[in-house]
Amino acid sequence: MKKLACITGTASGMGKAILKNFLKNDFLVIVINRTEKESFSAEFTEEINKTLFPVYGDVSRAETQDTAFLIAKKIGIPITVLVNNAGTLNRTSFLDEDPEHAKEVFDVHVMAPFSLSQKMKKHLPDDQTGVIINIGSLRGIIPTGILYSASKTALHGMTRGLAQELAPQIRVVCVAPGLTKTEMHAHKTEEELHAMAAGSMMNTLVEPEDIADMVEFLVSDKAKAITGETFSVDNGGTLVRPDIWKKHKT
Ligand SMILES: NC(=O)c1ccc[n+]([C@@H]2O[C@H](COP(=O)([O-])OP(=O)(O)OC[C@H]3O[C@@H](n4cnc5c(N)ncnc54)[C@H](OP(=O)(O)O)[C@@H]3O)[C@@H](O)[C@H]2O)c1
Repeated sequence: MKKLACITGTASGMGKAILKNFLKNDFLVIVINRTEKESFSAEFTEEINKTLFPVYGDVSRAETQDTAFLIAKKIGIPITVLVNNAGTLNRTSFLDEDPEHAKEVFDVHVMAPFSLSQKMKKHLPDDQTGVIINIGSLRGIIPTGILYSASKTALHGMTRGLAQELAPQIRVVCVAPGLTKTEMHAHKTEEELHAMAAGSMMNTLVEPEDIADMVEFLVSDKAKAITGETFSVDNGGTLVRPDIWKKHKT
């Protein structure tokens, strides 16, 4: 029998690359995207309503989440893989930050993964196993800015709590990407992006496919012994640069 996955935020970037890998691996996939985008519908015309079932709405809203589980019920297969990928970059400076916007960042990065995980567990028959993948961030390990980083740190922490709560039935793993070339950074120039990537050991940007391939591995049986961990896929972005470190070595 085919397996059913649910992936959030697949209209672009990593989510789209993750979706493509799942379809290639013969999964049926429910996606939760904020809005219906022409470019997405055109790219996946062949798959939509055959192997790909879109739900449009804010992922942090209960109605949107419930629609995904209703579709799973209609298909007649429980969701056994959940990828919490949807994310929003907040660029407001600390002093200008509006608490309502702060709430939105935490709703998308923390509360939506929490509620979707809870619903997945409730709908999963006791005799079936599953995997939850959370997309965290290098910024959740080394903060740049406050709210975005704090919400991703919370997601890394929640991965461990969920892994404890849901074992042995569901594995829960987090992937922490470094700077990746996606629509999230569309406002930056090529030069700016490459200057930022120079902070990593490999001196380059992560590709959305690098993240999709890591997710593919973590969902597979090859990763059956892995739960509760956060894996960096960041071109060595968390490492101290040896050229700087050596300057201060005694
Ligand atoms: N790019 C990076 O350097 C980087 C680094 C570390 C971690 N990440 C994380 O990686 C994940 C994927 O981001 P990306 O880089 O691939 O960016 P992206 O191309 O902008 O994709 C993010 C997706 O999430 C969707 N989304 C945001 N808020 C949503 C909501 N409330 N409801 C439903 N969908 C929502 C977006 O929809 P709209 O297009 O409608 O906004 C978009 O399709 C995010 O969690 C992000 O925080 C990114």
